[in-house]
Amino acid sequence: MRHESQANVVNLDQGAVPRHVAIIMDGNGRWARRRHLPRIAGHRKGAQAVRATVQACGEIGIEYLTLFAFSSENWRRPADEVSALMTLFARAIEDELSRLHEHGVRFRVIGDRSRFEPRLQQLISDAEQLTAGNRRLVLTIAANYGGRWDVAQAVNRLLAERARSGIALDAPVDESDLQPFLSLADAPEPDLFIRTGGETRISNFLLWQLAYTELWFTETLWPDFGAADVSAAVASFRSRERRFGRTSEQLRVAGEVESPPLAAQAAGAR
Ligand code: FPP
Repeated sequence: MRHESQANVVNLDQGAVPRHVAIIMDGNGRWARRRHLPRIAGHRKGAQAVRATVQACGEIGIEYLTLFAFSSENWRRPADEVSALMTLFARAIEDELSRLHEHGVRFRVIGDRSRFEPRLQQLISDAEQLTAGNRRLVLTIAANYGGRWDVAQAVNRLLAERARSGIALDAPVDESDLQPFLSLADAPEPDLFIRTGGETRISNFLLWQLAYTELWFTETLWPDFGAADVSAAVASFRSRERRFGRTSEQLRVAGEVESPPLAAQAAGAR
């Protein structure tokens, strides 16, 4: 992944690194408008920022990186922008896959992919299959994803599973029943959420999974985002006390890193 300039190298002292970082990449359109360029030029530059960010996260030992590339609501954009985004996504997979694979990156997509062109669907599943055994960094792209969609699809899958195994459909559902059916069920919950572009919203991203995540917002537009911003976000993360409902005093007595209440039960969570 080392093909950005050396100026992008991440410079962080030893210390806690978030295991899972989730990012809303916002501001491509404004980046382009400020340069009197078409919006798609901003998305193209945004794709380069994706590359730099994956590299930076890999270098500092982040294990899971989840990027919001296309929301369920983004279909409302002009048709030519939607189509250009799909083309860019397909091209990014074609161009980057072998490099990701060489560097031990597992590639995954979450979201309802049934609306994508068959060729894009095929590219995605081939890429997922090729990289399924990689462990250095799990790169998840949320595409045609929405947090509410995620919860609804989890309920539907839970009910289908109950029907298959003969469990009453009206048996009570608790959080731990639903958790295995959510997207990212096999990943730890995000430790750090980043949104670029100056808005301070979650915008229907990982609604369930962000319950205890530290939030970090920056005015930087996504195409300008890079290793220095990753460092700044991680430095802010390190300065925070994560209590997960406990008191500061309890944490000092336990002297341990706390876990979110439900994530502790999920596979892969610490
Ligand atoms: C938000 O900026 C960005 C998007 C909706 C698309 C994100 C796409 C990329 C970063 C490029 C390709 C992605 C991959 C995974 C290779 P905006 O258009 O909403 O910006 P604005 O708020 O300034 O208009």
